[in-house]
Amino acid sequence: MRFFIETYGCQMNKAESASFHLQFMERSWEPAATAEEADLVLINTCSVRITAENRAWGRIAHYAAMKRERAFTLVVTGCMAERLRERMREREPRIDYALGNFQKAAFGLLLDAAAAGRRLETIEESPAFAFMPSHREPGSFSSFVPIMHGCDNFCSYCIVPYVRGREVSRDPSSIAAEIESAAAAGVREITLLGQNVNSYRWRGLGGELDFAGLLTSIAPIARSAGIGRVRFVSSHPKDLSDATIEAIASDDVFARHIHLCVQHGSDRVLEAMNRRYTRDSYTLLADRIRSRISGVTLSTDILIGFPGETEEDVEDTLELMRKLRFAYAFMYHYNPREGTPAAVMPGQVPVAVKKARLARVIEAQKTITRSVMDGMIGSEAVVLVEAVSKRRGDEVLGRTDQDMMVVFPASAERIGSFARVRLESIRGNTFKAVEVR
Ligand code: SF4
Ligand code: F3S
Repeated sequence: MRFFIETYGCQMNKAESASFHLQFMERSWEPAATAEEADLVLINTCSVRITAENRAWGRIAHYAAMKRERAFTLVVTGCMAERLRERMREREPRIDYALGNFQKAAFGLLLDAAAAGRRLETIEESPAFAFMPSHREPGSFSSFVPIMHGCDNFCSYCIVPYVRGREVSRDPSSIAAEIESAAAAGVREITLLGQNVNSYRWRGLGGELDFAGLLTSIAPIARSAGIGRVRFVSSHPKDLSDATIEAIASDDVFARHIHLCVQHGSDRVLEAMNRRYTRDSYTLLADRIRSRISGVTLSTDILIGFPGETEEDVEDTLELMRKLRFAYAFMYHYNPREGTPAAVMPGQVPVAVKKARLARVIEAQKTITRSVMDGMIGSEAVVLVEAVSKRRGDEVLGRTDQDMMVVFPASAERIGSFARVRLESIRGNTFKAVEVR
């Protein structure tokens, strides 16, 4: 039996697709080179924007048409399946299963039924989110390890709390087990994953464990299993504690990089977004991180064109970006999301204005990134080698502790190992480097 997976959306979706992949492999299914050859096609969807959902509808229609020509099982998972399960079946009866975010525990049963040519009539919904045991992409040296799921924050523009539900933290023993099994399979870098990892909180017989406690307790486990680097995403600035900063500072298994979503530089907009921090409190947090963790880089998300945003608010954002000198940023313009408070707020900004403002923000970040990179020339960095460079077969591509991309001359055998390099020059957003021993 052969399977084909299409994944859209965030890192959580990527991690969950990797887990589906492993579950197929455990049952001796094989990956199909194209969907045309697959016995089961899985579309893992995202609801973050209407465009994401429209694209998924397009893919569903494409596969539904393919089902007229030949028989195969069509499965839709992810946030859109969570949000629109009923509507999906009505609109496209050729979908065999639409599996919501709280029904993934049934995935194995679904595969067994598909292999036997049967149909599962009912699929249970887990009362609490069930973490899958493993999220490693076969053959990859880098793996996500989800530690929490869902979000309690209700930022006024975001659909995640509605499709992923309230925050649930994962049992630390299951996190440790996944790290050890990933390391045994060759993984060298893990990224602890959650919608808001800083609010991780596990209550067990031994008491309570917060995110700082989790970091401290998994560092030796990861290191002795053979993991050379631990990253984490995403961090909400209001929840990143001093204890977490200390935990990172005191162990160099943690990457010198924090992705800390600021979203905007105007207090008025931050308040309307319900972010619950100010530009000053964010700046102080960034200063504390930089003073305690030497060499750390910060990256961020910026959401421009929020309802009610003025030119002055955009200037405030540009000013904050220049002051904080993010190494890179993911920059978006706001798109209303049905069902969220911001979608019905007055003062929606016309699309052309949002686009023009975003272009200015992107331009400013380009200059900042370039100057941050210029400042790194001549320094040394530890790189996990990820692939052969696309441009030259005698160069490899890797990522530094500070989450910057690097190419340097080396052979493909180095993939999956760490190297110390000196950063010599810049090509686009990538450093050119030489190995130092
Ligand atoms: Fe969405 Fe805000 Fe939660 Fe992030 S913190 S997932 S933006 S509600
Ligand atoms: Fe991720 Fe999209 Fe859901 S960004 S959490 S898959 S809405």
